Amino acid sequence: RKRITTRDIAAMRQRGEAIAMLTAYDATMAALVDMAGVDMILVGDSLGNVVLGHETTLPVTLDDMIRHAAAVKRGSARALLVCDMPFGSVTDPQTALESAVRVLKETGVEAVKIEGGLAMVPTVERLVAHGIAVVAHIGLTPQHVHQMGGYYMHGKDEASAERLRQEARALEAAGAFAIVLECVTPVLAAEITRSLTIPTIGIGSGKDCAGQVLVVNDLIGLNTTPPPSFAKPRADVAAIIKAAVGDYVGETKAERGPIPLPRRVD
Ligand code: KIV
Ligand code: NA
Repeated sequence: RKRITTRDIAAMRQRGEAIAMLTAYDATMAALVDMAGVDMILVGDSLGNVVLGHETTLPVTLDDMIRHAAAVKRGSARALLVCDMPFGSVTDPQTALESAVRVLKETGVEAVKIEGGLAMVPTVERLVAHGIAVVAHIGLTPQHVHQMGGYYMHGKDEASAERLRQEARALEAAGAFAIVLECVTPVLAAEITRSLTIPTIGIGSGKDCAGQVLVVNDLIGLNTTPPPSFAKPRADVAAIIKAAVGDYVGETKAERGPIPLPRRVD
């Protein structure tokens, strides 16, 4: 099957078909979510938390993203692939361009995603001018966690709401083909969605975005800590793994013993 393109995504928005997006970080998970029919796969820098065991996404490197995005590309066949630009890889438009060129050349993904609002407008323009497909990301932007002072809902007061409206408009004008709204109050997310031509992709932002994205581990219950409240797990894969491994350990010890003792080597 042919891969979904940015034109297909634009067409879905035009005909009112919701866009289903999930993260993946490795070839096996990419193959599974791809076969199950997601439209877009995000190689998120949530890799830092989910796969690498960091507290935040800040330690994730461009090389980390490239290694995992290349694996996701090898595992998938149909979904449009988006790779997050990690913290420190987009410090100015030229650096961002060089980072994004590496991502596209070394992984084969179709698009990159950049966190940030008005400060990122010149960067998005620069990448788009070079033919790179860009997803924007506003609201809760985890790379800004220390500046924001934690993870919380955005757009609650009028100043914050007006800022988000402005950012969404400016990033669309800069040429982004989609925009992630993370933890934006649902009423504002719905309003921004109606005000744009490009699709909004919501996470923790209510039902009325043009699409949804989730960390795949939160969707399938493949976690050791509780997922965010907006992620409703549809399976308990952690429990399945623990049960299977527990059985394996038990059987190995109970059914294979007693094993003849080794020759003493003293
Ligand atoms: O890194 C990530 O997983 C993300 C989303 C969930 C939007 O950026
Ligand atoms: Na991310």
